[in-house]
Amino acid sequence: MTLTGSPRFLMCPPRHFAVTYSINPWMNPEEWTKQASALSRAAEVEWRSLKSLLEQRGAVVDLMIPILGLPDLVFTANAAVVVDGKALLARFRHRERQREEPHFAAAFESLVERNILKSCVALPAGVVLEGAGDCIWDPHRELFWMGFGPRSSRQAAPIVEATFAAETVSLELVDPRFYHLDTGFSVLADGDIMYFKRALSPNSLRALHDHVNAGDRIEVDEDDACNMSLNGIRIGRTLILSGCSPKLRNQLADRGYSVSVTSLSSFLRSGGSAYCLTLRTDLTSDSRSPSSQFKPALNGQGHADEPGGRAHKSAH
Ligand code: ARG
Repeated sequence: MTLTGSPRFLMCPPRHFAVTYSINPWMNPEEWTKQASALSRAAEVEWRSLKSLLEQRGAVVDLMIPILGLPDLVFTANAAVVVDGKALLARFRHRERQREEPHFAAAFESLVERNILKSCVALPAGVVLEGAGDCIWDPHRELFWMGFGPRSSRQAAPIVEATFAAETVSLELVDPRFYHLDTGFSVLADGDIMYFKRALSPNSLRALHDHVNAGDRIEVDEDDACNMSLNGIRIGRTLILSGCSPKLRNQLADRGYSVSVTSLSSFLRSGGSAYCLTLRTDLTSDSRSPSSQFKPALNGQGHADEPGGRAHKSAH
């Protein structure tokens, strides 16, 4: 649970991770092939360090089985949107990743069987939504930020609203390097939003400004965005990032965040970093009344993820 339980994540070991096709500008199969075995070894080490960092912070990690021939299965953020124990299963834009769908579905069915989640639901035919990569829960505003364009379809928004009984704000992604919302936009604590403004269309940037007070906006520059600094994992006031400039680190420190950097360079070659490699499965829609919410089974001790709960800093 966001307030009282251990943060919980779904991850998939990178046994079969590689760059074997190209569906975003980061991916270059020829470059990967030149150093394939060194990069695969590096991926194993980097992934294990990320998992240890999460566990050191009190998180529980559930694992799914890696599948030969599905190199991007490791990016579990794309598997589903999960809030209140309900998983809305993803549908992918590209044929290469559509083959992951039955494996993600099986993983969620097993989480339901183990009482870690309550239910999983499918999207209607023809709607693409690449999971939490393009649909990010904002507990402060109690809404989903949704990316559309390169991958997910705009028509996914009403389905998310109906499934989770929550509002959505749709943001159009216009830079091919930032093809999922989670590569150019990040929800931090207490209403803070960190983003790269040129990832968004002018109208979408206006929508962001309409919903987020100037004081709650953290704009990052192109270098940090290209280092995937926006693709971080937040546990309380700690951000786990694969890269962070001194300038951004200071900006974040001024707001009370500490940054823990762990290299994920081999995954950046696929266009993914820390957030992409994990899917948070314990978020709830109403952090004010945790007792009324679904409580996933815990196998660790309780851990106060966000002591003090949320601040009421209205951005509307
Ligand atoms: N190679 C993967 C793709 O293009 C990377 C996915 C990264 N995931 C994310 N949530 N941004 O789909």
